[in-house]
Amino acid sequence: MAQVAAPRSQGLGPGFWPVTIVMTVVNIILGIYIATFDINKYLPEAAAPAGDIDLLFKFMAAIGNAIFLYVTVYVVYFAIVWRRRPSDAPDAIGIQIHDAPTLELWWTIIPSVLVIIIAIFSVKIWMNLQNASGDVLTMEAIGHQFKFEFRYPNLKSSVYDEMHVPVDTPVTVQVTSSDVIHSFWVPEVRLKYDMVPGLVQSVRFTPNRIGKYRVICTEFCGTNHANMFATMYIDSPQDFNRWIAAQAKLQASSGGAVALQGGTAAAGQTLFANKCSSCHSVGPFEQKIVGPGLGKLLSDTTHPNLVTGEKPNAVDISHVLIKGYQGPDDSQGKNGPSLGAMPNRDANGLSNSDIANLVAYLTSLSQSK
Ligand code: CUA
Repeated sequence: MAQVAAPRSQGLGPGFWPVTIVMTVVNIILGIYIATFDINKYLPEAAAPAGDIDLLFKFMAAIGNAIFLYVTVYVVYFAIVWRRRPSDAPDAIGIQIHDAPTLELWWTIIPSVLVIIIAIFSVKIWMNLQNASGDVLTMEAIGHQFKFEFRYPNLKSSVYDEMHVPVDTPVTVQVTSSDVIHSFWVPEVRLKYDMVPGLVQSVRFTPNRIGKYRVICTEFCGTNHANMFATMYIDSPQDFNRWIAAQAKLQASSGGAVALQGGTAAAGQTLFANKCSSCHSVGPFEQKIVGPGLGKLLSDTTHPNLVTGEKPNAVDISHVLIKGYQGPDDSQGKNGPSLGAMPNRDANGLSNSDIANLVAYLTSLSQSK
């Protein structure tokens, strides 16, 4: 019976302490580099919590960096120092270590202290966010496939893909979604909140740097997720008030009856290519992309009615363009299975003359053949 060979030697190995000292020095140098790194230069901080969040990020990066370096260098170091030698017996095994209270104490205490520091740090930032006083602007952001809708207390209608906030004013954005899960992320504010249907969450920040920033959807929400952006403008209070006033004036002027007789098919064709062709073909009804083909709206004997059930004519077509389409109540009913949903005129950014031009174009298609 073969005897188990005794371990060659024990301990930390030659050069353990020099290696540890070199790594510690490298970690201190990298820690200073991380602490003094100017994130602002690459991704500006544009709102109040951004600075605190960058500090937390740096702290975690320095710790993560140190843990990574110690673990990988020790793994490599021990693999080399205690490697199998040709002189070892074929059945030699490593040293079996059990019950090392000192070691176990330290590998419990150090991570616990680090995690507690991170927890205190995070909760403090979170409490500052929640308790920001002087809640001057409260607005809403609603995710749609594939648009951001913004609502302001002083505006009758929503604004799409463009939000304005005044500088140095605490802002609360109540975010939610109308369809699937989206996400509201402004990198310069360092805050990211999911927009979840049926759940309203408050995103609170105080803008502190005038400029133009991107709002990005970071939750995969469908085929156009990658194109779901909005622009956030941080304005001076004067510019912000001017924008609200201009927006209110625009909304007051865009209502009213649409004069269809002024439309031209050529302008409608260009508009259709820009705004409609990703969801609609100009072929027959069956030629669906997201919604049905619209080439034979007035002359299709197999689909004599519009999705609203109305007889197709210029006025009723314009109603669909104005109100959008939210799907039939009975998805297997007279309209058949899903035809997709279409946003209303505000979401599609259609002015009265746009609608008149589109109607002229769509009716001309049916007449041409
Ligand atoms: Cu909305 Cu991704």
